[in-house]
Amino acid sequence: MKQQENILILDFGSQYTQLIARRVRELHVYCEIHPFNISIEKVGEFSPKGIILSGGPSSVYASGAPISDKKIFELGVPVLGICYGLQLIAYQLGGEVDKAARREFGRAKLVVDSPDGIFKDVERETDVWMSHGDSLTKLPPGFQPVAHSANAPICAIRDGVKRIYGVQFHPEVAHTKAGKKILSNFLFEICGCQGDWNTESFIERSVSEIRVNVGTAKVLCALSGGVDSSVAAVLLHKAIGKQLYCIHIDNGVMRRGESAHVVKTFRDRFHIPLDVVDGTNLFLGRLKAVTDPEQKRKIIGKTFIDVFEAEAKKAGGGAFLAQGTLYPDVIESTSFKGPSATIKSHHNVGGLPEKMNLKLIEPFRELFKDEVREVGRVLGLPESLLMRHPFPGPGLAIRILGEVTPERLEILRSADDIFLEELRRNNVYDEVWQAFTVLLPVQSVGVMGDERTYENTIAVRAVTSVDGMTADWAQLPYHVLGTISNRIINEVRGVNRVVYDISSKPPATIEWE
Ligand code: XMP
Repeated sequence: MKQQENILILDFGSQYTQLIARRVRELHVYCEIHPFNISIEKVGEFSPKGIILSGGPSSVYASGAPISDKKIFELGVPVLGICYGLQLIAYQLGGEVDKAARREFGRAKLVVDSPDGIFKDVERETDVWMSHGDSLTKLPPGFQPVAHSANAPICAIRDGVKRIYGVQFHPEVAHTKAGKKILSNFLFEICGCQGDWNTESFIERSVSEIRVNVGTAKVLCALSGGVDSSVAAVLLHKAIGKQLYCIHIDNGVMRRGESAHVVKTFRDRFHIPLDVVDGTNLFLGRLKAVTDPEQKRKIIGKTFIDVFEAEAKKAGGGAFLAQGTLYPDVIESTSFKGPSATIKSHHNVGGLPEKMNLKLIEPFRELFKDEVREVGRVLGLPESLLMRHPFPGPGLAIRILGEVTPERLEILRSADDIFLEELRRNNVYDEVWQAFTVLLPVQSVGVMGDERTYENTIAVRAVTSVDGMTADWAQLPYHVLGTISNRIINEVRGVNRVVYDISSKPPATIEWE
């Protein structure tokens, strides 16, 4: 098989690092994000055609600032430094960065002084997105300035011989008008990439990797019914056929009718054998009296693994456990990939115990949601399944604030049912990334008929997003919100108030816990 083109992105903690990866993949070049302190041997193994240094919140002079091995500049591989990445190039190769220079945040006008290399076919004056405190004041030997702005006399630099480039602005964000062109110039003009990474080549490569990895062992696939695990199951089935053993665990915190639906789809439609394990009592038992969000996540993650291990034994000791873990799950729940903070332990990553008798197989660990949907499309999964909203592994447990009890689950399931039904009826389901209801641990006073009520509050949440990393609250039509509120209050016993969540991510997250 032809050698895959790889771009290595080194993460210095910028909030935009994942965006760089998305942009590169959109240009059909495979890339991976690794921490800034990856060893030079590992870089060699990855054999990148180019290296991109991300931005980051630090100053290169600060103590403990993330600094990479200087040898990355001696590999003969083109390098593009973005923001902090540019400053690092200057710092490590003999230039100077000044803290006292003017800080710049937001839109700026870039003037291109040298319209070639990364600026080939870019207009001479173009809008860019700046976000930096320090500025470059002295060029390292061998470098030339190639662009400036009103606030930064040196806004982009290059060493054309060593093929090292740096930009002070962020080409990966949409506000930088020529951003895509600049990244594409780096990939195709400077690194000499062909851009042949696509869904078909991903599937082909995955199938052969899975076969080599698994050998003759069995793979246990936990099918939740969501997009990721469904596509993973179909991909695995293509790769290893009968060695795949699928189970669906009803963890007691699923939506109403969810388990029955999963079984029907997989057995009847895909003819992939599937066993159902009813874990309701086990999961709800362990969740009893637990109110802390992280604890809920960890308990559910651990219980899933206990069930998997028991099932694997029954099946004759399956050696692998397949999961539909996605790239954002990996990034958000661990800090090993780079210096970013842990936000939540997503159950398919952070919630897993360190010691586990099953080896993990996660074919989508480096993919974003829309890329997985594309894989599913090529594999022939129906649109109705692919366009389902994401549903978190810990299920409704993280949408019930406070204790998870059968009574509270019943309230949430009923509200959730009504909400989704109305979204579909009003043709807005496909317009949003995700929509769900949350049961708050708040009771308030109401009046129903002539009676005073003192009952629960349901929060309704709908967001738009491209990958779940950032999100906006969805501007659902008022009349739809009105119907939803009326129906929930009238039809769900124990609810007398409905509120709409109008927070974006960041600073809120999509789920409430
Ligand atoms: P947050 O709440 O972190 O959610 O903004 C981002 C996206 O991830 C989903 N999510 C999860 N998915 N296991 C999953 O498979 C989890 O533990 C988990 N927690 C959150 C969430 O629904 C949203 O789509």
